[in-house]
Amino acid sequence: MVQFLGNTFGKLALLTYVATLLPGIGNRLGIKNKILVLLKIYRREVGISMYLLALIHVTLEKLLIITSVKELLTLLPFEIMGTLAILICFFLFITSNTVSMVWLKLNWYRIHRLTYIGMFFIFLHVALVKLSIWTLLMGFVLMLQLISLIVIYRRTDSFTGGRPI
Ligand code: HEM
Repeated sequence: MVQFLGNTFGKLALLTYVATLLPGIGNRLGIKNKILVLLKIYRREVGISMYLLALIHVTLEKLLIITSVKELLTLLPFEIMGTLAILICFFLFITSNTVSMVWLKLNWYRIHRLTYIGMFFIFLHVALVKLSIWTLLMGFVLMLQLISLIVIYRRTDSFTGGRPI
């Protein structure tokens, strides 16, 4: 039961993570619709929810099960990928507020670009668990992300669509 719940929270975390990537992809590919507009407005809240869901996932899948520090530190390859992903998400989570945005200025955008590295770790995490619909979904979104970056670079000679950062 605990593991089933843990797995479900992992899947919800993955879905909300994908939701944070879609507005950027849509923007670069020139796709406009109401859902993407809504996701863009609430991207910060969706991202925060994603981190909290991933935290519950890790707690149920690992932290509640282990009985020693040795077990905590003995991570399988797919767990190492998940840990790297959640570490990146931690930095995005603690800076997902207006105070951080004002304080960090342009560095805020640099920090939040870490999501492009995080998505690879999340993909590797689910791919190393097993080939599943989650691997395919994450792989598909990763491809879309890369295609959208190539499209915007070819159109504007920059990955940011001509903006300074
Ligand atoms: C951003 C962070 C993470 C996300 C989005 C995530 C997502 C997922 C998803 C979607 C699955 C289900 C895969 C499937 O059924 O095919 C899963 C499974 C799992 N994850 Fe994560 N995960 C994350 C981080 C972690 C971390 C840090 C750990 C532990 C160190 C972890 C441990 C596990 C375990 C034990 C499973 C179950 C493997 C199995 O069924 O054999 N995850 N994760």
